[in-house]
Amino acid sequence: MDGQIRQVVVLYFITIFSLFSRYNSLEKDPPPPSYNYFEDLVSAGYDPQAYPSYFTTTIDDGHFKYLISQRTQVISQLQKLGVISAPSTKTVNVDDFGATGDATQDTQAFEKAWEEACSSKGEVVLEVPQGKRYQLKPIRFSGPCKSNLTIQIYGSMEASDDMSDYKEDTRHWLIFDSINNLLIEGGGTGKINGNGKIWWQNSCKINKTLPCKDAPTALTFYNSKNLKVQNLNIQDAQQIHVSFEKCNGVQASGLAVAAPESSPNTDGIHITRSQNIWITNSVIGTGDDCISIVSGSKNVQAMDITCGPGHGISIGSLGSKSSKAYVSGVTVDGAKLSGTTNGVRIKTWQGGLGSASNILFQNIEMNNVSNPIIIDQNYCDQDKPCKEQSSAVKVKDVVYKNINGTSASEVAIKFDCSKTHPCQEILLQNVKLQEQGDRTAKAICNNVKLTEKGTVFPQC
Ligand SMILES: *[C@@H]1O[C@H](CO)[C@@H](O)[C@H](O)[C@H]1NC(C)=O
Ligand SMILES: *[C@@H]1O[C@H](CO)[C@@H](O)[C@H](O)[C@H]1NC(C)=O
Ligand SMILES: *[C@@H]1O[C@H](CO)[C@@H](O)[C@H](O)[C@H]1NC(C)=O
Ligand SMILES: *[C@@H]1O[C@H](CO)[C@@H](O)[C@H](O)[C@H]1NC(C)=O
Repeated sequence: MDGQIRQVVVLYFITIFSLFSRYNSLEKDPPPPSYNYFEDLVSAGYDPQAYPSYFTTTIDDGHFKYLISQRTQVISQLQKLGVISAPSTKTVNVDDFGATGDATQDTQAFEKAWEEACSSKGEVVLEVPQGKRYQLKPIRFSGPCKSNLTIQIYGSMEASDDMSDYKEDTRHWLIFDSINNLLIEGGGTGKINGNGKIWWQNSCKINKTLPCKDAPTALTFYNSKNLKVQNLNIQDAQQIHVSFEKCNGVQASGLAVAAPESSPNTDGIHITRSQNIWITNSVIGTGDDCISIVSGSKNVQAMDITCGPGHGISIGSLGSKSSKAYVSGVTVDGAKLSGTTNGVRIKTWQGGLGSASNILFQNIEMNNVSNPIIIDQNYCDQDKPCKEQSSAVKVKDVVYKNINGTSASEVAIKFDCSKTHPCQEILLQNVKLQEQGDRTAKAICNNVKLTEKGTVFPQC
């Protein structure tokens, strides 16, 4: 008993100490990088009050989360050392529910394992064991669950390629719905494989005689808070690879996403109606956007991202069919794009409403990218031409800083903004783009209110 009390006291002090020392070191830290951004804006004659300070809140959030994770680490470290006892972990293995993992149907076993895992209390780990291949029809993993679950995907989950298996819901293969505090981690040779070939062949983008229909997203996280998604290997999705929809608080890291360059609409990571999303250290090469951020998304940070092939990092498209769209507080910091059709792009349809604002693209390297920097307020992804309309999704407060490399096309910078709603407060700072083969690139700038700082090449 005495011993237990002592352990609790020790834990308490260590935790307090760790929080404290972290807090103090925060105070001594140099100002966060966003500081310069504001200084720069101010010195460029901007009114800082006009800019909602999403950076500051993000950074604060970040440190807060860091403190929590620091505390969790202390606890788990103490548990490892045996100073405090770990609560016993319940492992739910799909094989115990009849999954064979021999590349035959295992859908029911996964459903049963999910029921068991989601309804159990305490520490629960749902395990997809290493070295196996599980073939799965669409599955909805629904919460809320009784515990904070961990799912370990060390074996492979492979999608059924029988299209009739998807007739109840053609939009999703694996969906995690309303599950808070979920940790999903991959590892070893485990893969999530959408087996998308059949869907690509039946896409109207590949076979023009076919009607346009949606295909399933391989992995969807819906209506969930505080998710961690780590080290997953995801390939050949039927359409989008990973989608975060209506989520708040996501840390995704170490994702490897791969599909052929020719596969239609196979976005890597798609973010919609979600907030506080961090994506770090991920490598994405597909047939469509590397990361796409669409309406209702706020406070999205992507750091240390490698893209290519594919269509690059996109905000939008926004405002299709005269819809109202809002995206704000997007930071892409540290990215390398190679052989993509766009670098960093904002695309909006004519006729929409709303805005895309407070966007920072920095420390980005382009390697043979067709449109390295592009804002397209006249986006039109349909067969018949889009008619001219006066309303538009506004684009404002966009910073491009420290961007270099090569353009595969002559036009390295393109601002094709709306006549009626020109792009506002666009800043280019230390941007240097050459056309591949050392030729001189150029910039096309229509209806844009632009500020340039440092070296900027090409210029409007
Ligand atoms: C689950 O995680 C949340 C947030 O980290 C925590 O507040 C809560 O106590 C946890 N619940 C359980 C049952 O462990
Ligand atoms: C396109 O689809 C049509 C209708 O299903 C089919 O007959 C045709 O063979 C397909 N073309 C190719 C190239 O797959
Ligand atoms: C650059 O990209 C273009 C068009 O995407 C391609 O044709 C060309 O082979 C690429 N060049 C290099 C050196 O990769
Ligand atoms: C771009 O900048 C980075 C960092 O300053 C540098 O390492 C890299 O060589 C540059 N790339 C090109 C193509 O200039």
